[in-house]
Amino acid sequence: MTRIGIVAEAPGENRVAATPTTVPKLIALGYDVVVEAGAGAASSFPDAAYAASGAVVVDAATAWASPVVLKVNAPTPAEIDRLADGATVVAMLSPALRPDLVDALATRGITAVALDAVPRISRAQSMDVLSSMANIAGYRAVVEAAHEFGRFFTGQVTAAGKVPPAKVLVAGAGVAGLAAIGAASSLGAIVRATDPRPEVADQVASIGGQYLEVVVPDENKQVSADGYAKATSEAYDRRAAEIYSEQAADVDIIITTALIPGRPAPRLITAADVARMKPGSVIVDMAAGQGGNVAGSIAGERVVTDNGVVILGYTDLAGRLPQQASQLFATNLVNLLKLLTPRKDGVLTLDFDDVVQRTATVVRDGEVTWPPPPVQVSAAPAAASAPVQASSVPAARAPMSAGARTALIAAGIAALFAVCAFAPPPLPQHFLVLTLAVVVGFYVIGHVAHALHTPLMSVTNAISGIIVVGAMVQITAPDLTVQILAAVAVLLASINIFGGFAVTRRMLAMFRKGEAR
Ligand code: NAI
Repeated sequence: MTRIGIVAEAPGENRVAATPTTVPKLIALGYDVVVEAGAGAASSFPDAAYAASGAVVVDAATAWASPVVLKVNAPTPAEIDRLADGATVVAMLSPALRPDLVDALATRGITAVALDAVPRISRAQSMDVLSSMANIAGYRAVVEAAHEFGRFFTGQVTAAGKVPPAKVLVAGAGVAGLAAIGAASSLGAIVRATDPRPEVADQVASIGGQYLEVVVPDENKQVSADGYAKATSEAYDRRAAEIYSEQAADVDIIITTALIPGRPAPRLITAADVARMKPGSVIVDMAAGQGGNVAGSIAGERVVTDNGVVILGYTDLAGRLPQQASQLFATNLVNLLKLLTPRKDGVLTLDFDDVVQRTATVVRDGEVTWPPPPVQVSAAPAAASAPVQASSVPAARAPMSAGARTALIAAGIAALFAVCAFAPPPLPQHFLVLTLAVVVGFYVIGHVAHALHTPLMSVTNAISGIIVVGAMVQITAPDLTVQILAAVAVLLASINIFGGFAVTRRMLAMFRKGEAR
């Protein structure tokens, strides 16, 4: 059985790589778990809780000497020396930015897996620490801003006067940005957001934000093919700068999260924009650690400008919710270890045919394996992809030609005319109503937005109610065919009504707190 060592992080880092909840899951994978004394203290996980969960609390040297070491941050040079020969270390390593670290790990002949290099593909979402940490950080950015801001976020009408809602601008609607939009709008603020990827517009709207589109004439929209943004064009940046300048004069809080992988963070908010903001406004530059989106922000610092704007450049936002962050981080780690321990026998294996394991592995047995081959994933369908071989996919249905369409309409009119002219009354009237209902129904239902399908279901329930009543009246008719048709109509309409209620109930249950789904 391999021993896993959970080591304490350097001072200033509150998170820990395993919690009393995840230790039993590591043990279930066949590992022995040792935890350095005090490793979870800053996350409010005492040693006794680890001991109760099945781990053995040990001194630092024993934890570091384990064949597998789990950590939050990259090991320092001194810590790399403490690793056992041939050990495996799993942590956030930022391999693209830290070639020195990768070389140092390789020199020791160990295996290093970078949690922050897990590709952003659906299958790996449960191991994606960057997303789970960015989600927490986005929320915390709003909490930090609210703490600095001298007013309510929500608008109120009180006996002492009317309070306007705060206006928040979120630049960059990735994981952190969306979390910030959600948190700010649930506090009652008016939230606006920008992002070069147009596919985020619906996501922004769905959590209460307003998407400010940067309209650039004659430019291909940034439909992301790999889940990340590409560098924006000059025309885009120019138009975006105008929007930021207008917004800076209007909003109370700006939270910037813009990031393009492999590059320094784009500069979005200029010193002139900051100067236009009202005194007491707050900016949180979440990208301060990568060079900053905001002029004047300093990584890890709180800065107050001459015009009284507070700029927060904190780089430890996720660690400011340590218990939550450790829990999600440790769960991501367990999910990764499940992948690396397919037989649940406590033996860690790396399968380089698996894209997740290949991409996350930075050094294998002292051999540098970074950078990995590129992973093509799609957050949205890639625009203008290579033409697909006609034989490889089923042929798309060709649109109907104008001639065929005219012939079909003419045939329909002729059939309607024939029925109206020759059928005995009251069939023509019924047939006419049916035909018009089909046409109107086709156009109405075909154009209902997805978001309105639930109200649409309510309307169809009402129609089904009318059908049930009509069919019940007809069920006593002397004609057996009519009776059978009426019975079938009651049955089908009832399925629609009660099925609708059942589906609605299940959907509502998803939004109820503490209810098992
Ligand atoms: P992400 O890659 O999911 O999102 C970045 C977003 O920025 C993307 O939606 C992208 O389209 C957008 N973007 C790129 N260029 C832009 C531009 N010129 N204007 C507007 N938007 C632009 O990244 P994620 O995970 O949401 O992280 C966001 C930032 O937050 C990163 O810089 C990350 O390092 C940082 N972060 C900071 C923490 C802290 O403690 N300060 C903790 C966690 C994350």
